Amino acid sequence: MTSQSAKITILVDNEAGAGLATEHGFALWLETADKRILFDVGQGATLLENARILGINPLAADCIALSHGHYDHSGGLAVLLQQDRTFEVYCHPGAVNPRYSIRNHTAKPLQMPRAAMTALDRFPQERVHWVQRPVMLAENVGLTGPILRETIFEDPGGPFYLDQAGVRPDPIDDDLALWVRTGEGLVVCLGCGHAGLINTLEQAQRQNEGMPIRAVIGGFHLQNADQRRLEQTIEALRRIAPELIIPCHCTGEDAVFALRAAFGQRCRPGAAGMTCVFDQPGPERAAPRALA
Ligand SMILES: [Fe+2]
Ligand SMILES: [Fe+2]
Repeated sequence: MTSQSAKITILVDNEAGAGLATEHGFALWLETADKRILFDVGQGATLLENARILGINPLAADCIALSHGHYDHSGGLAVLLQQDRTFEVYCHPGAVNPRYSIRNHTAKPLQMPRAAMTALDRFPQERVHWVQRPVMLAENVGLTGPILRETIFEDPGGPFYLDQAGVRPDPIDDDLALWVRTGEGLVVCLGCGHAGLINTLEQAQRQNEGMPIRAVIGGFHLQNADQRRLEQTIEALRRIAPELIIPCHCTGEDAVFALRAAFGQRCRPGAAGMTCVFDQPGPERAAPRALA
């Protein structure tokens, strides 16, 4: 692998290639020349088995970064941190907050599950990095830190609150994205995209001298987006012009349909088992591949 190449494999997603399990959650495996990184860990139900089938050992990761604390991105920490104590773990301090979604006056807890929280508490604290500003994870890999909310059409994407009574809205300010500088441009990975897809891409570009976006991959959390937000998102995406758009997890069916209609072959919906290799010469250049 060259110093600017990267290989990304989706380990956990709401969709999966043949032989792999689905769950409502998300996790990516990223390999660069110098590091192996887990970005999100799903709920914990499918991560290890999917990874085994794909020939990946998550316990061999150098670091684990959480996009945010929701259970479907953080639950897998429990089993990982109990088995290996040499990871470097990165997340925003808000990732351990109690939090809920409230629908029809019913509060559903969304926070990091207790077992994951306990595993994090018991983990060597010098290896837990509470991210409040941009941080580098490898030579060409960074975490955005908290993401500026600048667009007027994006919001966290649901009825999220920090209390069960629904008094304090949850801005999900622990939302972080990961970017990779490759020889082909910037690859941006989102967990749920609660800060907004466009806010996230713009922040990643600001941190990389406006580098063109080679690919964006992850949950875009547009499942509750109205038509106006979808249209404005697509208009902004046309301006930012990612070469490849891989919607996963919580992007939402209508949004995926709209993205495919707008971007054609440049939009390839993701699934567990999909692999993308960047900075590779020849016809395989960055072609996403799902397990048949
Ligand atoms: Fe999610
Ligand atoms: Fe989320």
